[in-house]
Amino acid sequence: MQRPFYSVPSPLVGEGQGEGEEVRERGGQCGLRSVSLSHKGRGTGSFLYVEREMKKILVLPGDGIGPEIVTEAEKVLEAVRERFGLEVETERGLVGGAAYDETGEPLPETTLQQAREADAILFGSIGGPKWDAVERDKRPERGLLRLRSELGLFANLRPAMLFPQLADASSLRPEVVSGLDILIVRELTGGIYFGQPRGIREENGERVGFNTDVYSESEIRRIGHVAFELASARNGRLCSVDKANVMEVTELWKEVMTELAADYPRVELSHMYVDNAAMQLVRAPKQFDVIVTGNLFGDILSDEAAMLTGSIGMLPSASLDEQRKGLYEPCHGSAPDIAGQGIANPLATILSLAMMMRYSLDRGDVAEAIEAAVERALDQGWRTADIATGGGRGASTGEMGDAVVAALRE
Ligand code: IPM
Ligand code: MG
Repeated sequence: MQRPFYSVPSPLVGEGQGEGEEVRERGGQCGLRSVSLSHKGRGTGSFLYVEREMKKILVLPGDGIGPEIVTEAEKVLEAVRERFGLEVETERGLVGGAAYDETGEPLPETTLQQAREADAILFGSIGGPKWDAVERDKRPERGLLRLRSELGLFANLRPAMLFPQLADASSLRPEVVSGLDILIVRELTGGIYFGQPRGIREENGERVGFNTDVYSESEIRRIGHVAFELASARNGRLCSVDKANVMEVTELWKEVMTELAADYPRVELSHMYVDNAAMQLVRAPKQFDVIVTGNLFGDILSDEAAMLTGSIGMLPSASLDEQRKGLYEPCHGSAPDIAGQGIANPLATILSLAMMMRYSLDRGDVAEAIEAAVERALDQGWRTADIATGGGRGASTGEMGDAVVAALRE
């Protein structure tokens, strides 16, 4: 089976029919190719994307298992470079706790500069208990948040799909999750994550913590367009998640999404409150095709959706700017408890590399080859401990990476 994961399964292909040539072909012309990601108007974005011969990829391994999993993705990159004659150069940089230890900053200026110059960024993971006591502004997470914000990576694509080979890994019944393929589109540079004012202050002799949830119309419209475009290239269903019964900011969100729907007559837009969405995701997740939501709700729902597949170690993500330059990272975190043991699952990072090929490097063919190689490795029975159901010793991080590389060279 070789369907194009994480891109855009063909329009009008129903559940359970997602296999075969036709789908594969259409999946290659990924939806975002024709999407303008521009903020206020349309047509000023991706079409003017200037093709450069040699693409630059910045690799940011980060903390915890980050360096181990990124190393495997680099092996895969090397293999596709050979097989496809891909013209890419890579460079490594420091981010997160690793950067803090060396420079005192979780996102040093040199890294930011490298990131600005790159065509795409491959990101491992950041954070760990080692930096828990560090002052708030210097924590590893701040490095990632600042990178998203400085680079304008507003569109976060988080697919959750169940690999048929891993159907047993989900904690839900197979009939509830089999064939699951949903895409969460999370706004990533606004909302309560970045709203001002924020802080902790003294008031009447006690501490008071506060944050601000804020979205402008143009911010909502920008992420809305991405979600509508992706939904029209998939199964044509978009669910906008809000808390419009309580929060004005999401009342506006809902209104703007409703206005946008007029531009996309082929997409069926629905709205759902976030508490209900959290429930529906575990009750009947296959009702969803694309979900679009703000930064905080997207953070929470994407973890929930990831776990439906039983294997958060398998799920990649893309964070894109208006020109589809992107940062690609696995959805799982830095897993400090298993760092350095060589047992982490590198597949989410390898699949993130595939997303990079598709969205930022315009190489849907390379993306499909990587995804097919991952499937091949799974078909051959390779399992790291997190996705092994039969017990026994799981494959090491390196063995899993090697299996994918071998499949690519077959
Ligand atoms: C994520 C993570 C980050 C977030 C953290 C590490 C800042 O949970 O990418 O989902 O909250 O966005
Ligand atoms: Mg999260």
